[in-house]
Amino acid sequence: MNADMDNARTRMPETDAGNGATGEPMTSDYQTYGDSSSDIALPIIRFDDVSKAYPDGTPALSSVSFDILPGEFVSLVGASGAGKSTLLKLIYSEVEPTSGAVSFNGRDLSTINRKHLPYYRRNIGTVFQDFKLLPQKTAFENVAYALEVYGSPTDEILDEVPQILDIVDLGAKAGNLPKQLSGGEQQRVAIARALILQPKIIIADEPTGNLDPVSAEGIIDLLLEINQLGTTVILATHNQALVNKVGRRVIALDRGRVASDEMEGRYVFPGAVPAGKGTKKRTRV
Ligand SMILES: Nc1ncnc2c1ncn2[C@@H]1O[C@H](COP(=O)(O)OP(=O)(O)O)[C@@H](O)[C@H]1O
Ligand SMILES: [Mg+2]
Repeated sequence: MNADMDNARTRMPETDAGNGATGEPMTSDYQTYGDSSSDIALPIIRFDDVSKAYPDGTPALSSVSFDILPGEFVSLVGASGAGKSTLLKLIYSEVEPTSGAVSFNGRDLSTINRKHLPYYRRNIGTVFQDFKLLPQKTAFENVAYALEVYGSPTDEILDEVPQILDIVDLGAKAGNLPKQLSGGEQQRVAIARALILQPKIIIADEPTGNLDPVSAEGIIDLLLEINQLGTTVILATHNQALVNKVGRRVIALDRGRVASDEMEGRYVFPGAVPAGKGTKKRTRV
């Protein structure tokens, strides 16, 4: 999933900044849900009977349906090859479903004009196992770069970057290059880089995969904190201990299918316990 930097190079016209729904040029059917007088929260992400097979025929997801509401923290779990990364790539519109639909704020992603995808993708902050930092740039510059490519003015960059670095607790190391930071610190820079664009959703694909257990816990705590501040978080991981510590909604994939979807879930391998024991089943909205 390297597309984020490429897309970030496409400068956003300022007139479109702040558009609430997909970030695309505003028309009435792109309105953001959730700010209205209605008490019913509408999903920020909906998978409606989504299947995905890669062009070589490999099936990755089969008949996947779920809704994610704004503000949720969702752990997406499953063995290697279960389809976690594919699911996140569908949300980022990096790959397209073979059948079914993925929607963001009620908008079917397949209806977004390809040239408008960068607008949509500003809604989605991405964090990866391998950090994807620019090695010759400092922590500050890595985060600032995300704003520069969108043409943000210098005073805004100088104002916002230190604030974000403080949130991820790296204010004191703003001048360090990635190689002068620990793995956990590098991942914090990557999270700051995702946050600086004020995304509606953070998708994190195995963000703790290269980290020691203590740093990994720190990253999960940070994602929880970001979620508390209002950002929807979708965390793909096969780390059982971390998911159980999070104690929030867990969607388990097994060979491309949703094996379970439970609030306050725990990560158990499919078939390990009778379904529904000691957990609250999710009801579809
Ligand atoms: N670009 C691709 N081309 C063909 N098959 C792929 C591709 N990416 C992933 N797959 C296959 O799709 C399935 C799901 O992969 P993935 O979504 O990466 O799972 P996970 O992230 O849970 O390990 C696996 O069988 C994998 O080999
Ligand atoms: Mg993966």
